[in-house]
Order: sequence, then C-alpha cells, then structure tokens
Amino acid sequence: MAKSSSTFVCNACGNTTSKWSGRCEACGAWNTITEEAPLTSGPAKKTLGGSRGRATPLTDLSSSEAPPPRTSSGLSELDRVLGGGLVPSSAILVGGDPGIGKSTLLLQAAALFARAGLGVIYASGEEASAQVRMRAQRLGLADAPVKLAAETNLRDILTTLEQERPALAIIDSIQTMWADNVESAPGSVSQVRVAAHELTNFAKRRGMAVIMVGHVTKDGQIAGPRVIEHMVDTVLYFEGERGHQFRILRAVKNRFGPADEIGVFEMTGGGLSEVTNPSALFLSERGQPSPGSVVFSGIEGTRPVLCEFQALVAPTPHSQPRRTVVGWDGGRLAMILAVLEARCGIPFAGLDVYLNVAGGMKISEPAADLAVAAALLSAREDVALPPETVVFGEISLSGALRPVSQTELRLKEAQKLGFSSAIAPAGGKTGESGGMTLNQMGDLTAFVGDVFGAG
Ligand code: TYD
Ligand code: MG
Repeated sequence: MAKSSSTFVCNACGNTTSKWSGRCEACGAWNTITEEAPLTSGPAKKTLGGSRGRATPLTDLSSSEAPPPRTSSGLSELDRVLGGGLVPSSAILVGGDPGIGKSTLLLQAAALFARAGLGVIYASGEEASAQVRMRAQRLGLADAPVKLAAETNLRDILTTLEQERPALAIIDSIQTMWADNVESAPGSVSQVRVAAHELTNFAKRRGMAVIMVGHVTKDGQIAGPRVIEHMVDTVLYFEGERGHQFRILRAVKNRFGPADEIGVFEMTGGGLSEVTNPSALFLSERGQPSPGSVVFSGIEGTRPVLCEFQALVAPTPHSQPRRTVVGWDGGRLAMILAVLEARCGIPFAGLDVYLNVAGGMKISEPAADLAVAAALLSAREDVALPPETVVFGEISLSGALRPVSQTELRLKEAQKLGFSSAIAPAGGKTGESGGMTLNQMGDLTAFVGDVFGAG
C-alpha cells in the first residue's frame, strides 16, 4: 500500500502532525486541524554535501555599507512605526481584526508613497478595482499615481511585479492569495506560507518593498499571520476597539527600528488621520477627578504616553466576585490584588473589581502596577487622588516599589500636559524634574499610608 504523504496542519498555530486529531497538541485549539498536501515531493535522498554548490562571497563585519535610504510617507505616525520611513527591499506584515481599517491605512500609505515618487502597485484580492477606486475618491487620493490590480493568483502577481518593477507592492490580503503549485485552499496555512515566502523572496531579490495584510481572527479559523511572522522584517499590528475612533499601529517586531513603537490614528469620515499628541487625546474625555480614576505616565516605544486607568469596586451579589479588565493584563491584576491583601492587609474578597484603560488603549508595561493599585484603592476607599497627579512604578511581590526606566521622560510629558506632581518609586533616576513635585516612595504600605491615610 502506498504510504500517505499528506500532513495535517493546525490552522491556528501552524503546527504540523502526521495524523489528524480533534485538538491541536501544540496550541490546544479544537477543530483547527486540516489535511494538506506537502509542499514539494521532498528533498533528494542524499545529503547536500559541500562539493556541488557555488562558494558564497564572504565579507567581514567592518566593511562599511551606507545605511539604506528610507522613504518618508509624510504620515509621521506611520513613519515612526516603520522606524523612520520605508526601507527598500523590506517585507512588512500588517495584521489586525477584519474591519479595523487595514485597507484604509494601506491605501492612504500607497497614495502617499506614490506621491513621494515611488512606483506603487496595490494588489487587492478582496475588493474589485472599482471598489478600491471609489474608496480612494472618498479619501481624496484619486490623483495619486498608484497602480491597481484585482488579482489573487500569486504567479500572475509575481509576473506583473517582474515586468513593472515597482518600489513598493501592497498585497491585500495574504489570505486571499493562492499559489497554483500548492494543493490546498486559499487562506490555508500552506498557501499563506508559500505566498508570503515567494513575495518576501521576490522583494529581497528585486529590491522591492512589500507590505502584506493579514487578517487575524480570534477563533483561528483563517490561518493566522503568526506563521509568517518570522519570515518578514517588520510585523505591525493594527489595534483598536470598534466603538472608539482611535486606532493604534504597533510594531511588535522590527529589524529596522525600535519594536514596541506605536503610531496613533483617528478614524474619521475621510480616512485615518494621524494623532501627533496621543496623551492629550487619551486624557481628553477626562472629567472632574473622581474616585477610581488615576493618570498613568507610560512609555510606548520611545515616546511617553499618558492615559487614564479607571477602577470600580463594588460589593458582589455572587459567591465568586468578578474581575473584569479591559486594556490591561488580567493575571497582573490578580497579582496586584494579592499583594494589596498580603502586604497591606487590604482585602478585596466579596468585592467585584472592574478595571479599564480609557480610550481603548492597551497597556503592557509593568510600570503601570502602581497606577492600577492606586486606582483600585481610590475606588475601594471612595477617595479621589489629588488632581494634577500622575502615578507610575512597578510593584514586586514583596510589596516593594521598583524604579522604572525613563523617569525623566515620563515627568516631562506629564508637565507638558499640565500635571504638577508625580508619585513614583524611590531610587529612580530622576535627573531634572523640571518643576514637578516628585513624591517618591519605597513600598506599597508607605504609599497607602501617605495617599489614603493608613488605608
Ligand atoms: P477597512 O480598511 O476596510 O478594514 P480592513 O481592511 O481592516 O478589513 O475599514 C473598514 C472600516 O473603516 C469600516 O467599518 C468603515 C471605516 N471607514 C471609515 O470610518 N472612514 C473611512 O474613510 C473609511 C474608508 C473607512
Ligand atoms: Mg480590507
């Protein structure tokens, strides 16, 4: 009997196995494994050896090469996330939920780069050219010299790129592309992987930059762009809450610039417009100082961003109190609650806790610990923090406050936005506090006693 040569691939994480099962062993997702034909018939039986290939020219580390010239889009928030403009020959993946605004952003980017003098091809596998054109008209970009293609066949796209030799190709989206040499449906892991590999390879060989759009769905039904993250130079995620106007483009990997950099945009009737002062935006809806509201002075990438933590603490009607978090890590909230209880004797048992970062921002910095603790205490004690005060600091399990990086930058931004004092851990490098009153504390107990009068 002929041995079956197909493999089974998990659509959520890309793990391959030799047999089907209902649940992926690697990521634990249910019903995500599908059968796929192997990519090629496999390598020849013999090892490659060292006699057949050509010798690759080697250089040493000291040989100097001019840094690649970057092209600026003119949209400073986009340039910032790219690390200072578009690098030639780079491969960029832009991921995000469907409907978040990826096509809008990339059409705007295409038009801006085209106006800056680059040859740009926008290949859409999701929308007809007429639809893209209509959108461009609505965004006031119809005059930009962008070339459109409504195509999903990868071979045809590569042939077109070979002939046209654009400086930038935008592929919207990688899930709609299909390679006719791979026997599986468009959107499957093998197809996405091959399409991304071919396009990235082409980009490197021909000196073209390529931006690929990838949809991420929460249930993992469509092959996530996760499987191609390692192939590309830059991975950007477009995030935001549907109900909010703000969209955040976040660099999670960047070979040509700092990772963790964010660009902030606002979705308007005329497309995405950049927000150059995000702190002002995130604090713009802040009313009178109220219990449970605390302003955190954070750092996103290389830039300080102020935002507001809101907490609500109320007696629970249930046997199991609720812990609900939006914009921050639920595990970290549990940790802060445990530290408050164990080190400061402030229990939250029997109380529902809700924590929210205003404006749809997502915070992952440990430096927000103290701001969260302050919001929780302020809500629990029903005491508002003094207005014009920002808070930052990491909390360790012992209840000690640990100094965080970039204290000076955090203080400067707070002062710029009209704050006059800050609560921060002792021992941080403060440098010039520039008129800000700095209230430094060594541990959480001191903080509770000082701000909330012994708890
Ligand atoms: P789109 O770019 O199509 O999302 P994606 O490519 O990520 O799936 O964005 C669709 C949403 O953006 C849609 O809900 C409408 C909204 N939108 C605006 O609010 N203003 C605009 O000018 C445009 C073009 C879209
Ligand atoms: Mg789209």
